[in-house]
Amino acid sequence: MSWCNDLHEICRAQVPLAPLTWFGLGGPARWLVEPRSESELSTVLHRSAESGVPVRFLGLGANLLVPDEGVDAAVIRLNGPVFRRIIPADSSIEAGAGAHLTTLVRTAVHGGLAGLEALAGIPGTVGGGIRMNCGGRHGEIASAVESVRVISSQGRLRDCPADALRFRYRACELGGERVVSARFHLERADRGLVLERFREIWREKSRSQPALREKSAGCIFKNPPGGASAGRLIDESGLKGARMGGAEVSDRHANFIVAHTGARTADVLALVERIEERVFIRTGVRLEREVEVW
Ligand code: EPU
Repeated sequence: MSWCNDLHEICRAQVPLAPLTWFGLGGPARWLVEPRSESELSTVLHRSAESGVPVRFLGLGANLLVPDEGVDAAVIRLNGPVFRRIIPADSSIEAGAGAHLTTLVRTAVHGGLAGLEALAGIPGTVGGGIRMNCGGRHGEIASAVESVRVISSQGRLRDCPADALRFRYRACELGGERVVSARFHLERADRGLVLERFREIWREKSRSQPALREKSAGCIFKNPPGGASAGRLIDESGLKGARMGGAEVSDRHANFIVAHTGARTADVLALVERIEERVFIRTGVRLEREVEVW
């Protein structure tokens, strides 16, 4: 008997993942599981751990590369209403891990709550955004997180304060746990001012980065320690426009790889390796990947 036989309402086999990622690439998930409640999520995790089934969490697939052959794992997607909830209060917002960052930021900005507008234009979910401490030059999600509810790989839930996550540049210490929901502390502010700052950041990104309709995964590499920009290093290594199969280094911002029609994950990975090699030879810097490769 399969580990998920009696979970058929929320578990499907051999589900293509490409349409669920921003790159639009990659093969199927052996199982795609979409629990509808915390207790169902807990059951799924407990069961998969008992059966030795590997588990992966999928958000909006905005920072992710799925192999062409797919993934032999249970891919969990927190896509139901419970996990996508966004509940604003006087100076805070509670959000499920599957809530879209863009909706969260819009809710805050339009409600005159300051503290999340630096995330303008970042695609992803609350869970994924916290796990990688998403952000940019104007700020990171960490500065607004008050507490998170997490679940262990065995399905045990607990609440923990933001401090315990030890946020740093594009990372935090979740260990084997995953975010289920989060509370953000924000500041009441003049709605017009918050909106203007949000629009300014959005405009700056639209000018310097590829259009959102292009298939990419945001920045491929983290910026190296010491303040250098990975995009600039790649650019100065002469790689803008470099191509491997259907994957190309963006002309707009060299830390983005754009996938053209017919591209495969293998093309993107080959290009990533070429960038790593060339940048190291030219500059001596070993770039660290920001994109998650399954
Ligand atoms: N630059 C170049 N050539 C390029 C790209 C950039 O010379 O092809 C130069 C720019 O002119 C600028 C400097 O490099 O002087 C920094 O560039 P930018 O302002 O675009 O910032 P970044 O450090 O490359 C970071 C985040 C982005 C975020 C922006 C804006 C990382 C790895 N990247 O980029 O985040 O949108 O700041 O806040 O931290 C992401 O993480 O996926 C991402 C896109």
